[in-house]
Amino acid sequence: MKVDVLLGLQWGDEGKGKVVDVLTPHYDVVARFQGGPNAGHTLEFEGQKYVLRSIPSGIFQGDKINIIGNGVVLDPALFMEEAKALEASGHPLKERLRISKKAHLILPTHRMLDRAYETAKGKEKVGTTGKGIGPTYTDKVSRNGLRVGDILSNFEEKYAKAKARHEAILQSLDFEYDITDMEKTWFEGIEYIKQFHLVDSEHEINNLLKQGKAVLCEGAQGTMLDVDFGSYPFVTSSNTVCAGACTGLGVSPHAIGEVFGIIKAYCTRVGAGPFPTELFDDTGRKIRDRGHEYGAVTGRERRCGWIDLVALKYAIMINGVTKLIMMKSDVLDNFETVKACVAYKLKSGEIIDYFPFDVNEVVEPVYKELPGWNADLTKMTNESQFPKAFKDYIAFLEKELETPIKIVSVGPDREQTIERDNVV
Ligand code: GDP
Ligand code: IMO
Ligand code: MG
Repeated sequence: MKVDVLLGLQWGDEGKGKVVDVLTPHYDVVARFQGGPNAGHTLEFEGQKYVLRSIPSGIFQGDKINIIGNGVVLDPALFMEEAKALEASGHPLKERLRISKKAHLILPTHRMLDRAYETAKGKEKVGTTGKGIGPTYTDKVSRNGLRVGDILSNFEEKYAKAKARHEAILQSLDFEYDITDMEKTWFEGIEYIKQFHLVDSEHEINNLLKQGKAVLCEGAQGTMLDVDFGSYPFVTSSNTVCAGACTGLGVSPHAIGEVFGIIKAYCTRVGAGPFPTELFDDTGRKIRDRGHEYGAVTGRERRCGWIDLVALKYAIMINGVTKLIMMKSDVLDNFETVKACVAYKLKSGEIIDYFPFDVNEVVEPVYKELPGWNADLTKMTNESQFPKAFKDYIAFLEKELETPIKIVSVGPDREQTIERDNVV
C-alpha cells in the first residue's frame, strides 16, 4: 500500500507533467486530485509534445490506470477536446481512464462568471485562466454544484436550475455574453463523458491499494497558488498542497509515502500577485527566452526571477516534502553568476527569513550570489559530467532546503532526466 504525491512548490509550471511521465513506470495508478483545465502539463518524448489539462500524465503508458479524482473540476467540452486529440494521435484512453462521479462540473456559465468577476475586479484582477475554476469551486463549497454523477439522471433539470442561478448573477454584474455555441459543445461533451468509466473513485483507489498497487498523485498548480497557504487572494481556488491529495482522492493521510516537490532552478509566475524575486531587466528576459516561459495553455508570458528559498522552505514545510526534483537547470547554462533569495527585506527595514502574511510588505530580496556554470547541461546523462559550479549550486540548495535533490532535469525531453539516486 503506497501513495506518493508529486506537486509543484512554486507558482505552477514547474514541470510536473514531465516528472509524472518519467516516474509512471514505477506506479500502477496515476491520479489527479485537484484543479482542472487551468493546468497545462507538458510531456515530450519520441519527438512529440503533448499538453494535458485534465487528463493525468500517466495516460501514455499502456497498462496504467489513470484517475480523475473527486477534487478535480471538469469541463466536459474541454475534456472531450483533449481526449479526442489524444485518441487521434494514437493514444486510446477509454480503458485506461476512470472519472470520479464526485468531481464537479464546470458549466459554460461558470466560465462567464469567472470573466465577469475578473472584469469587476478591474486593476485588482487575479489574472485567472478564465476556465471557470473559481466559480465552480465556489458552487461546490456553497453546496450548489453539479457533479459528474449527476449526468446519469434528470440532468437537464439540474442544469437549468444552476444556469438560471448563474444568469441572475451575471445580469446583476451587467455582463454581456453569448454561450449558445459553447453550450452546444458542452452538451456533446456530457454525452461523450458517458462512454468513460464513471466511478466511485475513493472506493476504487482504496481497493487498488489493498491489492498492493502503487499510486502516484499528480498535483496541479503549485503550493504558492494554494487557496489557504498561497499568496492570497492571488491564488487558485483549490488546495494544491499535499493534504489536497487526501481530500481530492479519499486516501488516508496514513497512506502517504514520498512527497516529491518539483522546483525550477529559478522561479516563474503567470497572472497577477506578489513575486518577490521577479526580475524586470535583461536577466529576466534572458531567462524567459531561454526557458520558453510562455503559458502551455494560454500562451501568456510568464514572469521570471531567481529561485526563492524563503518561499521554498515554506512550501517544503507545508507539504512535508521528502525529495526534491529540480527542473530546467539548463536554462541557467550561460550566466556568469546565479542568485538565490535567502531572506526578505520588509518595508519596515526588518530582514526576515520566513514567508510573511502580507507578501506585499517585501520590498527587496536578500540574495546569495553563486558562480554560474557556463556549460551545456542538455546532453549530459550522468551527474559525474556536471561542472563543479553546478554541483556546488545543487549542494547549496540541498543544504539550505534541508532536503535532497533526487532528480535533475536538463531539457524538456523524457530522456533529459538525470536520476541521482533511486527515486522510488
Ligand atoms: P507543469 O504545468 O508543471 O507540468 O509545467 P508546464 O508544462 O506548464 O511547463 C514546463 C515547461 O518546461 C514545459 O514546456 C516543459 O516541456 C519544459 N521543461 C520541463 N523540464 C525542462 C527542463 O529540464 N529544461 C527545459 N529547458 N525545459 C523543460
Ligand atoms: P499548472 O498545473 C501556473 C494561476 C493563474 C492565476 C491564478 C488563478 O500548469 O502548473 P485560476 O484560473 O486557477 O482561477 O487562476 O492561478 N494558475 C496557474 N499558473 N500554472 C498553472 O497550472 C496554473 N493554474 C492556475 O495564472 O494567476
Ligand atoms: Mg503548466
